[in-house]
Amino acid sequence: MLGALCFLRAVRFCSSAPCPRHKPSAKLSVQNALGVQNTSGERVKVQGWVRSVRSQKEVLFLHVNDGSSLESLQVVADSSLDSRELTFGSSVEVQGQLVKSPSKRQNVELKAENIKVIGNCDAKTFPIRYKERHPLEYLRQYPHLRCRTNILGSILRIRSEATAAIHSFFKDSGFVHIHTPVITSNDCEGAGELFQLEAAGKIKVPEENFFNVPAFLTVSGQLHLEVMSGAFTQVFTFGPTFRAENSQSRRHLAEFYMIEAEISFVDSLQDLMQVMEKLFKATTMMVLSKCPEDVKLCYKFIAPGQKIRTYAEKQLFNWGIDLQTEHEKYLVKHCGNVPVFVINYPLALKPFYMRDNEDGPQHTVAAVDLLVPGVGELFGGGLREERYHFLEERLARSRLTEVYQWYLDLRRFGSVPHGGFGMGFERYLQCILGVDNIKDVIPFPRFPHSCLL
Ligand code: 4AD
Ligand code: MG
Repeated sequence: MLGALCFLRAVRFCSSAPCPRHKPSAKLSVQNALGVQNTSGERVKVQGWVRSVRSQKEVLFLHVNDGSSLESLQVVADSSLDSRELTFGSSVEVQGQLVKSPSKRQNVELKAENIKVIGNCDAKTFPIRYKERHPLEYLRQYPHLRCRTNILGSILRIRSEATAAIHSFFKDSGFVHIHTPVITSNDCEGAGELFQLEAAGKIKVPEENFFNVPAFLTVSGQLHLEVMSGAFTQVFTFGPTFRAENSQSRRHLAEFYMIEAEISFVDSLQDLMQVMEKLFKATTMMVLSKCPEDVKLCYKFIAPGQKIRTYAEKQLFNWGIDLQTEHEKYLVKHCGNVPVFVINYPLALKPFYMRDNEDGPQHTVAAVDLLVPGVGELFGGGLREERYHFLEERLARSRLTEVYQWYLDLRRFGSVPHGGFGMGFERYLQCILGVDNIKDVIPFPRFPHSCLL
């Protein structure tokens, strides 16, 4: 339907009379061409990369893909248009008539009048082989070419739709989008997993720091969001986040994307958990409705037999020790392989900003993590310590009072109970698609000992 509308818009200028041959053909994406319902021989131009070539005695069949959809457009041509340059992977421009296809496999096909090869592709040396289903590990060696495969194409289109869905969710829920800085002078999580930043070639003595103070790539936009929640009530950010964790695991990256939200006038974890749940559900529903074919392909190719998971909620209380991957797996399994909220962690394990529950010898903070099957921790968040004296004491104990004067100011001037969370975007994609390795859901993965391109 949408495809047909786009098509109508594109060809409006020559819709009433037969189109004179010198008039340029309307350029259509493959997706829009495939979406045309009632063809009446419109002349169109399609550009893309050849996914298959089948040369018969009198007819030539091509499949052309331009990344707009998983499905390629079938091109049918007289064999006189065949050429040795028309190989798998070459880029082409095809002009011709869009006609109803006699085959049941597609609704329309392009009857070519002209096929121009724009860029050759030597199939013998092209690392992606015709009709071969390459393992994802193999494709990882070619971050500059793997996006031309069906599977990476689907994952990255889903990634794009999920990004848009997340922005819509927050916009529809009244949140203000904040661009939190990538360069910062704070270590929000206090874990020391920072990448330090300096102008290339500069001697590293403090007086010559570009910013006068040590500066880092951000590990979280939370503290900047807290500033903004003091004016806009509900805010979010969605950007790259960096951690110098020396982990080669299938769920850690040195550069990943994080969705973070901060909400003022919130004083219960339940309220936060509701927003987390709604975000997860709304985004997933949107992805399912926008790209069902791409999602299906992921389930066919990477996670056979798995069902799209629905959301359930269970609560477990503090275990008293920091949760390792194995514990997370156990908890999720124990609860029936559904997402699980874990709340109220020991104060000693969590950063200085977490709100003290004042619960005696247990001494927990109002923290919440959401653990999901196959991935482990997907969300981390909690209520923030909004009480000046509590925060002052915690900062003093960590010897952070001086650097966090501005943060104390937020508690000095119109402080309110508030809280928020962060969701790892790549882990979210892993979770909904069943992708085992995080390196396969981001276009250009960065991890220890690897920064290709
Ligand atoms: O639990 P984390 O460290 O929480 C924070 O940074 C909070 N300041 C967020 C907030 O409250 N605004 O990280 C949040 C999420 C994790 O649950 C995980 O999904 C993801 O970020 N994450 C990673 N994803 C990929 N690679 C890594 N190295 C990650 N580290 C964290
Ligand atoms: Mg965490």
